[in-house]
Amino acid sequence: MNGRLRVAVLASGRGSNLQALLDKVSSGDLSAEIVLVISNSPRCMALERARSAGVPTECITKNAAGGRGPQLERFHQALLANDVELVVLAGFNLILSRATAEHYENRIINIHPSLLPAFAGGMAPQPQEDAIAYGVKVSGCTVHLINDDVDGGPVIAQVAVPVHDDDTPDSLAARILVEEHKILPAVVQWFAEGRVSVHGRIVAIAAEKAHQSSGAGR
Ligand code: GRF
Repeated sequence: MNGRLRVAVLASGRGSNLQALLDKVSSGDLSAEIVLVISNSPRCMALERARSAGVPTECITKNAAGGRGPQLERFHQALLANDVELVVLAGFNLILSRATAEHYENRIINIHPSLLPAFAGGMAPQPQEDAIAYGVKVSGCTVHLINDDVDGGPVIAQVAVPVHDDDTPDSLAARILVEEHKILPAVVQWFAEGRVSVHGRIVAIAAEKAHQSSGAGR
């Protein structure tokens, strides 16, 4: 072990947020180690991206595991076996087991393409579609902790983007995604630096220490 925060990324689809994390690790701007990528979807791009980056992968399907309960238990065991310290849900379409949620209390984060608590609950592109249908003028993305409520955990960070009159769900999603790819690595870096503390619903980010100025190369 090299002392870097041991991160697992759980993803079910395209994996562009995973890619943003991998890129920041390889450029030295994220002082964490992605030790494992786990998916429930065998042919997803996220697994391909992880393999291309030389990151170990596991794919745990419901069928192969023999049902939802055993599947979630295998996710849990994979996290424990790899000494994972932070779990990042990046386009992951399952709800983890209670055992996992309790073991990793305040150490499971999710990224959602809306300004929570608005447009909670759906997987992309539902939140973007809902934002346009509702007529909001601003949307964005949220990184939050996992708790018992879907998309209801304490907010760690949010970025707002404008919603234009001629936006489609795709154009809004693309504008939000640019910000997702910045905010998620930034939050993981805060965890790596030990700067995140949770007080009920309030998440505080401690000031950056002078020697932590860039986060690079440590
Ligand atoms: C992102 O919009 C994320 O906010 C949501 O699912 C999408 C995943 O995209 N939870 P990708 O797989 O990271 O490209």
